Amino acid sequence: MTYPAGMESQAAEPGRPVVRGTASDVSSMPQAERGPQGINTSVPNVARIYDFLLGGKDNFAADRQAAAELIRLVPNIVMAANHNRKFLQRAVRFLAGEAGIRQFIDIGTGLPTQGSVHEIAQRYDPNSRVLYVDNDPVVIAHAQSLMADNATVVAINRDLRRPDDILRHPALRALINLDEPVAVLLVAILHFIPDNEDPYGIVDEIKNAIPRGSYLVISHATPDSVSPEVMKGIRQLYDRATAPAAPRLPADIERFFTGMNIIAPGLVDVSSWRNESMPSEPCPTIFYAGVGRKP
Ligand SMILES: C[S@@+](CC[C@H](N)C(=O)[O-])C[C@H]1O[C@@H](n2cnc3c(N)ncnc32)[C@H](O)[C@@H]1O
Repeated sequence: MTYPAGMESQAAEPGRPVVRGTASDVSSMPQAERGPQGINTSVPNVARIYDFLLGGKDNFAADRQAAAELIRLVPNIVMAANHNRKFLQRAVRFLAGEAGIRQFIDIGTGLPTQGSVHEIAQRYDPNSRVLYVDNDPVVIAHAQSLMADNATVVAINRDLRRPDDILRHPALRALINLDEPVAVLLVAILHFIPDNEDPYGIVDEIKNAIPRGSYLVISHATPDSVSPEVMKGIRQLYDRATAPAAPRLPADIERFFTGMNIIAPGLVDVSSWRNESMPSEPCPTIFYAGVGRKP
């Protein structure tokens, strides 16, 4: 694919830690393992594994092999990934509809798929503003090329582990008014940030930066319904990928909402959050989800 002019990459930022397995470490790879535009296709990529689980086409052999291994370990993972995506869509409908939110920051955007945040939000108000943030340059390149004609949707290549870089980014400052309520989406991303990278401090920094009446949307993988052996296999799989697995128990996921009011129905299985057409097939809880409002 063609990369839009001005696409930022992790490698361009001196002094920053290298993000595992992304475009930043391809220079030492044999040419055969370099994908389009120098993307390392030999390392399973968390955005592309998820894309494969959702039935997408933006993935390579290493991603598909990792996804197949994940399906072997957790046979319900495809269903769970789809429930997660539908949760994101229901949450945006709630925010744009009932809650009247007109600005969104979606951190951990993922590869393009049906029903993205801006598609839903702009059905309620075509002027709704959406900032997409992802640390994967391919995700951002896709988003930027799709959004080229949409002045109220911007995508930036930044890392959640450096929230200040996101919050001070000129694109955020130009698009999002931090004096007005905003929804921040952290959907299926915090479980890629282990405790030693201070995920609670990161989320606190974001909560502190947004005004009263703002919302925080979280979905998060849990080890609740898998055996320790399966969990070990999942951890080993993601240790070889672009980000490690850091699933958390519900009480630890709920801690991300500290200082916020978690709206009904609370932190629940991702498939049941405000879902009027409950799935016919029961799926063991793989992701919990919740939405908090800053009082
Ligand atoms: C599983 S996908 C989730 C996509 C979308 N939020 C959803 O739930 O449908 C996780 C996304 O988070 C991104 N990601 C992982 N770690 C990140 C980080 N530290 N900073 C920014 N993005 C990150 C990945 O590149 C990927 O696009």
